[in-house]
Amino acid sequence: MTKNIPAAAAQTDFLPLQGTDYVEFYVGNAKQAAHFYKSAFGFQSLAYAGPETGVKDRASYAVCQNKLVFVFTTPLRSQNPIADHIYKHGDGVKMLALRVDDAADAWQQTTNRGAKSYLEPVTTGDADGEVTMSGIHTYGDTIHLFIERKNYHGAFLPGYRAWKTEYNPAETGLLYVDHCVGNVGWNQMNPWVNFYEEVMGFRNILSFDDKDISTEYSALMSKVMSNGNGFVKFPINEPAEGKKKSQVEEYLDYYDGEGCQHVALATHDIVKTVNELQSRGVEFLKVPTTYYDDLLDRVGHIDEDLAPLKELGILVDRDEEGYLLQIFTKPVEDRPTLFFEIIQRKGAKSFGKGNFKALFEAIEREQESRGNL
Ligand code: FE2
Repeated sequence: MTKNIPAAAAQTDFLPLQGTDYVEFYVGNAKQAAHFYKSAFGFQSLAYAGPETGVKDRASYAVCQNKLVFVFTTPLRSQNPIADHIYKHGDGVKMLALRVDDAADAWQQTTNRGAKSYLEPVTTGDADGEVTMSGIHTYGDTIHLFIERKNYHGAFLPGYRAWKTEYNPAETGLLYVDHCVGNVGWNQMNPWVNFYEEVMGFRNILSFDDKDISTEYSALMSKVMSNGNGFVKFPINEPAEGKKKSQVEEYLDYYDGEGCQHVALATHDIVKTVNELQSRGVEFLKVPTTYYDDLLDRVGHIDEDLAPLKELGILVDRDEEGYLLQIFTKPVEDRPTLFFEIIQRKGAKSFGKGNFKALFEAIEREQESRGNL
């Protein structure tokens, strides 16, 4: 059963968040990853850090598109924790960095409530100003950094320099992070829900159990955690028992532990964005075209024409407040781990529950082709 949990009475938010500051990926080859996200997803060159800027053990490329900033970091030698991370997990999300007014207070508030510290508050600066950062551990080897930018005017962060390139493919209309989903182990969803409630002051705004999210073969459970102002949303998935292996279990096997399953990127024009992404080679999960036969009976009137949605494979779902359009990429690395969602919200604040069955059947066809179902 799905529960819509009413908003708790307004309380003082001990961890006020202004949204996602950036997402940092640890990858085997940051130069090539940055090229892929520029070419395929339309990100723009933003900043670079490496030996040339005084950072000796790694190279990092920051790229941006509207409010989105992605950073790709690779180690320059072995015997390095970044190299160990990649050996274990493959390419994946390491840092979900959150923008705050006071990074020292964010660290104090969360560690007082039981968070394990990753980085004690530290202020760094250059000619363009100062940034204070701190960090705590969350599920798996994933980290939440708290970023306080004060009046920093540099390209990205101290230690980086502006990255100017001749090759600058056009943007694709991606705007900001809508939500980031974590996959956690068996019976670990509720402990992590408690972590986000107690340590970070989030609340559980939606729950899906295995009755909502199951196909003939496999199942998962999910709870959506939101911060006070709703700018940061972290759904948490755990596998559930089914006849065959859950997609969350496949992720846990190949990521070798808990981690970020997908990052949802918002657009104001999903047809245009997905057209552009597909023409640049981004691969999406496809549902059978029969999905569209009775779509309008299920979701009612929508502003978009049905034909391009069907051609591109874009899914639609409605809740009490409006509707949303969404589509999911295939995993963006060889391990069946991290993927992206493209989402356009037209009033709806939910996550596409009506599409779960069609979608998970599509995921299972892929799982089966890998011999993992
Ligand atoms: Fe999602």
